[in-house]
Amino acid sequence: MVLMIKHESFQPGIGVGTWAWGNRFLWNYNSLSDDSTLYTTFNTAISLGLNFFDTADSYGTGNLNGRSELLLGRFVSQLSQNQVQQLTLATKLAPFPWRFKHGYRKAFYSSKSRLQGHLARVQLHSSTARYAPYQEGFLIDALAQLVYDKHVNSLGISNVGPKGLGKIYRRLAMKGVRLASVQVQFSLLTYNQALQREMILVSRALGIEVLAYSPLALGILSLSSPS
Ligand SMILES: NC(=O)c1ccc[n+]([C@@H]2O[C@H](COP(=O)([O-])OP(=O)(O)OC[C@H]3O[C@@H](n4cnc5c(N)ncnc54)[C@H](OP(=O)(O)O)[C@@H]3O)[C@@H](O)[C@H]2O)c1
Repeated sequence: MVLMIKHESFQPGIGVGTWAWGNRFLWNYNSLSDDSTLYTTFNTAISLGLNFFDTADSYGTGNLNGRSELLLGRFVSQLSQNQVQQLTLATKLAPFPWRFKHGYRKAFYSSKSRLQGHLARVQLHSSTARYAPYQEGFLIDALAQLVYDKHVNSLGISNVGPKGLGKIYRRLAMKGVRLASVQVQFSLLTYNQALQREMILVSRALGIEVLAYSPLALGILSLSSPS
């Protein structure tokens, strides 16, 4: 699940996360037994009116890399054109060091192809500011170019703090590209609530949608409390 605070109204909404789709290590994914359940889950989400889906090019473990995008693309292709038009599919592209050198075109088109063309938003999966600050601007510029050239509608960032967020927002604004969303881990168990509150305030001031990932702390918050 992904909780959303939309920039137009700052009303909360719910999106669908697809991290578990193809992930053997953490989520015990098994293609034979899980794919039909995931398809049912996807259709249930659609029937409930959920229209935002979050995936990543790194989702799917080992040789299942890209599986989440692949399944999502497959499921979306079964919908009517009218239903597809209501959806926003967002992927996250990993900040691999070679992408700093070669850019994002190849990765972007691989993701778009797995998603059968239905890709509305690209997000930088995580900030590199802490370990390779010199790379971040290039990575952001490469993603911004995809928006600028109209290959994709919108751009987001993930795993960044409020200062980094402001910096990226300003860099993009100078290029005439709007930062649509920021995706951060945010649940009642998030250790630094003050920092997350600051994220929300900064995002609100800049008109950026907040996507709260792992809102149930990977399911821990859904366990019933001991009596
Ligand atoms: N940007 C990033 O770096 C990043 C990192 C992590 C996640 N994310 C995104 O955020 C999404 C959500 O993360 P998450 O999977 O950690 O989320 P979560 O919502 O905190 O946890 C999901 C877990 O909660 C369980 N659960 C129990 N009751 C539930 C209920 N009523 N509704 C929903 N789930 C319930 C699920 O069970 P089942 O197994 O039965 O579904 C699953 O095990 C991911 O899929 C991904 O798209 C992004």
